[in-house]
Amino acid sequence: MGILDGKVAVVTGAGQGLGRVEALELARNGASVVVNDLGVAADGSGSSEEPARAVVNEIEAAGGKAATAFGDVADWDAARRIVRTAVDTFGDLHILVNNAGFSRDGMIVKMSEDQFDSVLRVHVKGHFCMIKHTMDFWREKSKAEGGAPLYGRLISTASDAFLMGNLGQPNYAAAKGGITFLTLSAARECQRFGATANVVLPRARTRMTDSGPWAAIFQKPEEGFDQFAPEHVGPVVAWLASPHAAHVSGNLLQVWGKHVRVFERPQAALDHENEVEWSVDELQKVLGPFFEGKKPIEDSFALPMA
Ligand SMILES: NC(=O)c1ccc[n+]([C@@H]2O[C@H](COP(=O)([O-])OP(=O)(O)OC[C@H]3O[C@@H](n4cnc5c(N)ncnc54)[C@H](O)[C@@H]3O)[C@@H](O)[C@H]2O)c1
Repeated sequence: MGILDGKVAVVTGAGQGLGRVEALELARNGASVVVNDLGVAADGSGSSEEPARAVVNEIEAAGGKAATAFGDVADWDAARRIVRTAVDTFGDLHILVNNAGFSRDGMIVKMSEDQFDSVLRVHVKGHFCMIKHTMDFWREKSKAEGGAPLYGRLISTASDAFLMGNLGQPNYAAAKGGITFLTLSAARECQRFGATANVVLPRARTRMTDSGPWAAIFQKPEEGFDQFAPEHVGPVVAWLASPHAAHVSGNLLQVWGKHVRVFERPQAALDHENEVEWSVDELQKVLGPFFEGKKPIEDSFALPMA
């Protein structure tokens, strides 16, 4: 018996990297899994059906149930077809793990319009299209069942880039911020079906992190615990997808190695109501002392571990 027995999941971008381990973990826990992947290169170019097929074979070889769904998550009709694959093949859809995406890093002064648009498209529009078609399905299902609460889990993938506004990733940081607040809004809306929506912020060694300024941090150690192995991220996705997390919604969970951190919505660091209306001088009286001694944001590629 698995905790996800009888549940149907879609995992996007599940042909490799984090999506692959998440699909394997959901299947290991009993879910039937639709493995979506467009099979693109690290910069989003090209396409191949091979990665998704390989993961379906891997799940089936381990005794699980899986089906492929090729297609671009940011294409409105393709996203609807991915959702339909779950319903047509396995009879339902309970869990959507939005994971597909790529990065095309660069400084703002060197960034092209296409470099910005393509990263926003795959992440923000990709998450939106998949959430939209999943929630359409849930709305119809809930209506057909007289409004009874259903089993629904939306799990999105953001990043440290959203928390930190990473140097050299303005497009990716903006996309991950967009995903985060899209998911918080979806969490409010899908409550009416009894469903939840949460965001995972993973840290793992995949082709996205095995080159560039962060590569040294993510390297496999010669000995000892491999804290950036992508396999450490799978269980948090399966936990959010499980009945244990029925009341967990609108949260951000950061995970790597043996760490898990929960971020709640941004908190005010200063909350002041002035006695008189604002002027520059009045603001300086309040904000001057507050910002006194605080450092401006650092110009660094470092991944803050603390
Ligand atoms: N690796 C990390 O440390 C890390 C950190 C934070 C967030 N993330 C996020 O995790 C997710 C997975 O990244 P990864 O590190 O496993 O990278 P990856 O490149 O190994 O995997 C991404 C997968 O998404 C697929 N994909 C890309 N565009 C697609 C599209 N339009 N439609 C369908 N599939 C598409 C690719 O073919 C690929 O298989 C991404 O959203 C990424 O931003 C990764």
